[in-house]
Parts: sequence; C-alpha cells; structure tokens
Amino acid sequence: MDTKIPVCVEVCSKPLCTLKYQDIANKVLQILQKRQISFKDGILPFKDLTDDPEENKFILQNIEFIEVTDIEGSQNYNGIVLFWQADLRVTVYQLNDEGGAEEMADEAEEIPACKQWILPSTDFNGLWNSLVFEDDIKSNLLQYATTTMLFSDSLVNPQLINWNRVILLHGPPGTGKTSLCKGLAQKLSIRLSSRYPSGGQLIEINAHSLFSKWFSESGKLVMKLFSRIHEMVEDADSFVCVLIDEVESLTAARKSALNGTEPSDSIRVVNAVLTQIDQLKNCSNVVILTTSNITKAIDLAFVDRADIKQYIGLPGVKGRYTILLSCISELVRVGIIRDDEMIPSWHDSTAVKNEYALRLKVVAEKCEGLSGRALRKVPFLAHAFFVQQSWCTMDKFLDALGKAVDKESSVRAQLQESD
Ligand SMILES: Nc1ncnc2c1ncn2[C@@H]1O[C@H](COP(=O)(O)OP(=O)(O)O)[C@@H](O)[C@H]1O
Ligand SMILES: [Mg+2]
Repeated sequence: MDTKIPVCVEVCSKPLCTLKYQDIANKVLQILQKRQISFKDGILPFKDLTDDPEENKFILQNIEFIEVTDIEGSQNYNGIVLFWQADLRVTVYQLNDEGGAEEMADEAEEIPACKQWILPSTDFNGLWNSLVFEDDIKSNLLQYATTTMLFSDSLVNPQLINWNRVILLHGPPGTGKTSLCKGLAQKLSIRLSSRYPSGGQLIEINAHSLFSKWFSESGKLVMKLFSRIHEMVEDADSFVCVLIDEVESLTAARKSALNGTEPSDSIRVVNAVLTQIDQLKNCSNVVILTTSNITKAIDLAFVDRADIKQYIGLPGVKGRYTILLSCISELVRVGIIRDDEMIPSWHDSTAVKNEYALRLKVVAEKCEGLSGRALRKVPFLAHAFFVQQSWCTMDKFLDALGKAVDKESSVRAQLQESD
C-alpha cells in the first residue's frame, strides 16, 4: 500500500518569466528532492531551499514564491509532513494582474451586471489561505470540484453516472461564502493549469443586478451574459467558473411575482437563468458556483440543480481564534504590534502554555455569534478606540482587543433592542 501523503507545492513564477511551466516544475522538484526538507502549509522560505549558487540564481530569477498548501486541511498529520512521507505535486502558474473587468447592465451604465477575471489573478492571491473553516470544508470542496473536472475530462458517461457542475454555498451573511467561491476558482485554475493551457476565467454575476429597474431589459441582459459565457466555454482548453452570487434575490423575485407583487417579467428572467444553467451543465470545462445568504428560503429549482449544498455557518471558537490571530500577525508584520513573542496557532497553543494564547482564547470565546467579516473588523476597532498610538505591545493590543469586543457586543445588543 502506498502510504505517501500528497503535498501540493504551488510555484508562482515571475510575471516576465518565459520558461515552460514543466521545466520550472522539474527544476523545483529536483531542488526539493536534494534538500529533503519537511513540509507544512505556508510559503517556503527561499533560504531553506538551496545553498547552491546556480540553483539560487534560478529561483531568484524565475520564481515569485513557492507555497505548500492543504496539508492542514487534508487530515491529521500535525500539520507537518516529513520528506520521505511526501508525494510531491508541483504546479507552476503565473498571476494575472489585470484585475476584474466590469460589464454594465444597462445603457445608462449604472449597474454592473458582471465582473470578469483571468485566473489565477493577483486579486485573489492568498484568499484561499485567509479563509478559515472547520470540518475540512475547503478540502472537500476542492476535491469535489477536482472529481467533477476529472469525470468530465475522462468522458465518463453521464447517463450511467450522474453529476452536475453546480455548487451551492448557503448560510448567514459575512461567513465567507463569496470569498470561498472566488478562492476556489483561483485554486482550481492553479491546480488545473496543465490541463487547461489557455487558462481560467471567473465571471461573477450579481443576481440583484439582473433585476434592474429596467425590468423589460433583464431578459435581454441574461441572454447577453450567457452568450458571452458560452463563447468563453467554447475554447475547450480554457476553464470557466461562473459565480452567481446571492441567488436568493432570484428566489424572492419569483415568489413575489407569483403573489402578483412584482411584474411577471421576473419569472421569465429567473427561468431564463435556470435554463442557461442547465445548458452550461453539459459543458465539461465549467463549474457553476452559487451562494445564498438565506438558508431556509432557497428556491427548490436551485437546490435541485446543485450537487453540493454546503452550509457555511458562523465560525466556532477555534475558527475565531485563528481569524483574530491572522489579523494580529498582519499587524505584527507591518510593525503596528511590536513584540518579541508571537502567539502560537490554535494547534500549537494546546501543547504550549502560553499566556498570550490563553488571553486570545478568552477573547475568541467572547466573540461568539460574530461572523468572519465582523471579526476582521474588531482589530481595527481595537486600535481606533483603545490603542490610539502608532504602535503598541502585544500585551496592550490583546487588552484593547478584549475591550473592542465588549464594545461591539453592547452596540449589537442595542441595535437588536431597537429592531
Ligand atoms: N471563515 C472565514 N475565515 C476568514 N475570513 C472570513 C471568513 N468569513 C468571512 N471572512 C471575511 O469576511 C469578509 C466577507 O466575506 P464574504 O465572502 O463576503 O462573506 P459572505 O459572502 O458569506 O457574505 C471577507 O473579506 C473575509 O475576509
Ligand atoms: Mg456574499
């Protein structure tokens, strides 16, 4: 039995590097094999890689950074894989820095109907890693999408084995659903780069914008959008992610149309979208990602079309600790927090008795009920209200963080009372 553990090594090459991806991959593999380091999630420091001047020159000239990913999520290896255990999978890619291009929904050019990126994009660099979920949600999603692509690519007969290409993420707002879709698209485009040489694209459709005030135009808009997507999909060497964000507005529109409170045009629009999704499902190089902030009232029409319906909930105490810690690390990086000691990750903090870790845990426990989005604001509030200096120590910052959470909780309580 093969007991090796897959380790994904993603090599981001320099924007101007013109070497073949395969040549870079081979060289990196060779360097890693020589050095026999052990692997854990994160950026591989160049200094750990080689002391050979030739190799060093190659790295500095051609490579932006090398990242090891998804060890943590895959299973429990204490987050570290020793060299001899590792089944190295090296992928090479280049980031596209063009950013998202917006397409307008109406002639008056007021509402953006969709946004489009060439993947992998600098806009989403690091996004996947910044998202914290428990229960292997990330690795399961990635595995699901990879299986989808493999089955299509191997021409598995869809009459015999049934699968769609639609993923639905649902749950309360601010829990990272939209970000997770974008991160997944980026990740897939990196992982599948050798299979799709023309590259990947992400097209984000905001469901709200499909119902502009020019209702009669909506139908046309849907057709225009999807005909563009079909054009993109026609190139079998490219890979397309379609993100339909906040599908609950489609559901809501359909419901109120049925109740007679909205023009029946909206039914036509929703049906047009559903038909288009059904057509896209037959294309092997597409993944459709959808999100909804309302869990209970998702249109069955959407639920039925999705293979994976993943609930994304509020982060638990471990997740909250990890998110706050990532904020703290960032403030340490830029020098706003200055301290000789860094707080250990949740995993390590159970092993070491560390005073800062204990204090951060107390804060994380107090943050019950806060979404990821709310948590990422707390460090800012802590500084603005309770630090008010250009830099401070960890001790002072943790203190401020606790106060900021208390303040935030009482503000929230007041808002709820006035509801
Ligand atoms: N689980 C999470 N881990 C890390 N960051 C998160 C998480 N959930 C939300 N965030 C942060 O909150 C912000 C908003 O997330 P978003 O994807 O827009 O949420 P949603 O689509 O569920 O409303 C993102 O910038 C992200 O950094
Ligand atoms: Mg969202």
